[in-house]
Amino acid sequence: MLEVKNLNAGYGPVQVLWDISLEVGKGQVVTVMGPNGAGKSTLLKSILNLTTRVKPKGEAIILDGKDITRLPPEMMVKEGVAFIPEGARVFPEMSVLDNLLMGAYVPQARPHRGENLEKVFSLFPHLSERVHQKAKTLSGGERQAVAIGRALMSHPKLLLMDEPSLGLHPLLVSHTFKAIEKINRQGVTVLLAEQNVFFALEISHRAYVLESGRIILEGEGKALLKEDYIKKAYLAM
Ligand SMILES: Nc1ncnc2c1ncn2[C@@H]1O[C@H](COP(=O)(O)OP(=O)(O)OP(=O)(O)O)[C@@H](O)[C@H]1O
Ligand SMILES: [Mg+2]
Repeated sequence: MLEVKNLNAGYGPVQVLWDISLEVGKGQVVTVMGPNGAGKSTLLKSILNLTTRVKPKGEAIILDGKDITRLPPEMMVKEGVAFIPEGARVFPEMSVLDNLLMGAYVPQARPHRGENLEKVFSLFPHLSERVHQKAKTLSGGERQAVAIGRALMSHPKLLLMDEPSLGLHPLLVSHTFKAIEKINRQGVTVLLAEQNVFFALEISHRAYVLESGRIILEGEGKALLKEDYIKKAYLAM
């Protein structure tokens, strides 16, 4: 579904990512994990072409066989890529329903509006009781649900999520990962940047460990949970 080859990227003259190559298979959940500042968000933003390329020669980002390396960020949603940035961003003055419908503006999403809205409410039943409430009055967890729901309304084939569990109560964290698992089972491929390694690896087919902008380890999701390095550095075991 997604192939990133030899990506070197950063911000202006500052290089953050060094020679990153990774693959996300169709129907998979893949996690990029790593400490603060490792470059997880930069990696997701680079896929969307929101960063500066350092050595564009030899790099490629391929989505479903199509080269999207140079595609402008605003075109990505039309290609079926939805991005949920860190921190559950919503339109505060708009209602829950309008926030969700904003996600369905792309042509390919419009015919699926009703069906996708139902999917969102079945994932987050709480939201269906709050459709007319302004988004700014929601709790953090509800805002996260709206942010995920809005991305799903664009009828994506690939969902990029940046730290969906950040700032959530431990109980809600497990709900969020269950929702991600359900979304994936409904046919959406997911690339996740996450520090909540235990929950993320449980639902991941593959994972990559990013440190100081380089991939230092990769493997099958649950198998990585048993790696000594992961246990020590990420699970404090
Ligand atoms: N807009 C920016 N301009 C310049 N440097 C940036 C910018 N955004 C991030 N960086 C730098 O890029 C590096 C990687 O940051 P990034 O946000 O990708 O890390 P991260 O792994 O997502 O961290 P966290 O877990 O804290 O979210 C950091 O050193 C950061 O200072
Ligand atoms: Mg980040």
